[in-house]
Amino acid sequence: MVTEDFKAVEYTDGCLKLIDQRQLPAKLEYVMCRTSEEVATAIRSMIVRGAPAIGGAAGYGVYLALKESGRNADLFHKLCLSLRSARPTAVNLMWAVDRVMKAAEDSGFNAETVLVEARKIEAEDIAMNHQLSEIGVSVLRHGDTILTHCNAGALATCGWGTAIGVIKEAHCRGMDIKVFADETRPLLQGSRLTAWELQRFGVSVTLIPDSAAATLIRDGRIDAVILGADRIAANGDTANKLGTFMLSVIAKAYGVPFYSVAPTSTIDFNTASGEFIPIEERAADEVRKIAGISIAPEDIKVYNPAFDVTPHENITGIITEKGIIYPPFDLNIERIRKGEKL
Ligand code: MRU
Repeated sequence: MVTEDFKAVEYTDGCLKLIDQRQLPAKLEYVMCRTSEEVATAIRSMIVRGAPAIGGAAGYGVYLALKESGRNADLFHKLCLSLRSARPTAVNLMWAVDRVMKAAEDSGFNAETVLVEARKIEAEDIAMNHQLSEIGVSVLRHGDTILTHCNAGALATCGWGTAIGVIKEAHCRGMDIKVFADETRPLLQGSRLTAWELQRFGVSVTLIPDSAAATLIRDGRIDAVILGADRIAANGDTANKLGTFMLSVIAKAYGVPFYSVAPTSTIDFNTASGEFIPIEERAADEVRKIAGISIAPEDIKVYNPAFDVTPHENITGIITEKGIIYPPFDLNIERIRKGEKL
């Protein structure tokens, strides 16, 4: 199996080793987290980011919380709550914390069992990403040009990636896939992370300012828009990086297929539709400055939501490890919830 030569999330030698994604592409540096609060801070400050990656990291955070709290259940719950609320939109975070907390409670707070559960989340995420990538290549044809947004690659997951996983799988099969990567203002996950990751993997990638996407789509230069997801509601409405909604509107207007790619751990069966998905708002200085340099008046008012919601009507299909979910999304997502085949 082809893999990456780096890992965004890894538990080794008694601590959580994370790539410091704020430093890429200039430096490939690691941050070691020895306490659950260090893991929560790493998630908040986006040392680690991407829905499945923060879920994977938080799983180990729960293990660290258990070790720190000994048999003090109140302290354990407090530390887990801090992890769970580090960022509000990606449901993988809450899903992973709840899953590892349950393993703790069911095992009578057995540390070994809890570590095994955290490791399972990491291993399952990598396996799901390979499965959904193999399924996802079926929507592509030889020579296709893909537009992607933000980073849904190995850096955003425990390994391999979702949307970028599909692209890499197609590349490995010799399908001559080309990619346009949106730079993804304001934190530039597209230029700093996706461009780095795809170039390193040998995929032909061209970086564009976000606002060039509409022209490329209108001019017939994009065969499909393929990107990740942070939370998929029960009706198929999907939260992803800010700018995704705008791309979906343009893709729909010009008849270009639009695919969200995510493991089923990103589906929130308890959220009926997109209007109920909490959208994180981040600091004004992320927009006012780049790398510490002011690019706007110091005190200018800023609106900086980190995500937006794409209505399910704009989505062609949602590629998961269990198959591709097509409309009617509500009925097909319900089939996944019930464990039925798509
Ligand atoms: O703010 P980020 O960088 O965590 O946002 C990440 C995204 O929006 C990704 O597209 C999403 O998490 C899917 S990652 C497989």
